[in-house]
Amino acid sequence: EKIDRFRETLLSWYDLEKRDLPWRKNNDPYRIWVSEIMLQQTRVDTVIPYYLNFMNTFPTIEALAQAHEDILLKAWEGLGYYSRVRNLQFAAQQIMNDYNGEMPTDPKEISKLKGIGPYTTGAISSMAFGLPEPAVDGNVMRVLSRLFEIDADIAKPGNRKIFEAIMRELIDPYKPGDFNQAFMDLGSSICTPKNYHPELSPVKEFNQSYQNGTWEKYPVKSKK
Ligand code: ADE
Repeated sequence: EKIDRFRETLLSWYDLEKRDLPWRKNNDPYRIWVSEIMLQQTRVDTVIPYYLNFMNTFPTIEALAQAHEDILLKAWEGLGYYSRVRNLQFAAQQIMNDYNGEMPTDPKEISKLKGIGPYTTGAISSMAFGLPEPAVDGNVMRVLSRLFEIDADIAKPGNRKIFEAIMRELIDPYKPGDFNQAFMDLGSSICTPKNYHPELSPVKEFNQSYQNGTWEKYPVKSKK
């Protein structure tokens, strides 16, 4: 079936081409969580040294929960958006108090943690726990809009649910974490906002906008 061939093609490309990133070394939910929060407003290349230092300084959820504020903020200095690290510590304390110091495995519980929205819930659930949950950010929406000629404006917050529903159908049930990260890598290497070359995509045969010659239209922008 077509969806199986799509999954196989994308995951084979990911296996060959995936970036060697420090948070991809294991499935520890704490490590994945911290990386996803850092990556929300900061580029991968910038994040890497901060991430390695943060993990050395606060190797466990407990260490993060107990950290002194000055040391915590120092570890974040240069990344900006300090509410991210304050929420990270608050959530670490929630995990210590409400979940015996272990990241909960139920997406509904994960999403109750401070600073963890639908995207981060999906990222942790799929990458750490192997659950078929979508992790949809702007990059993933751009990839999906081009693949399926989706006429919904990816800049409109209300439209994220449309893309999540598509991703729920599409996601590989056996390798959901790799599948989500393959979309992220596609969005940062080939399926970029500018200088997009659909003919270079590993999944071009499944790319409806490329096949139909409409790819320059996507992602659509609605008039303000
Ligand atoms: N951006 C956000 N999360 C990412 C991840 N897990 N890998 C690569 N880029 C990302």
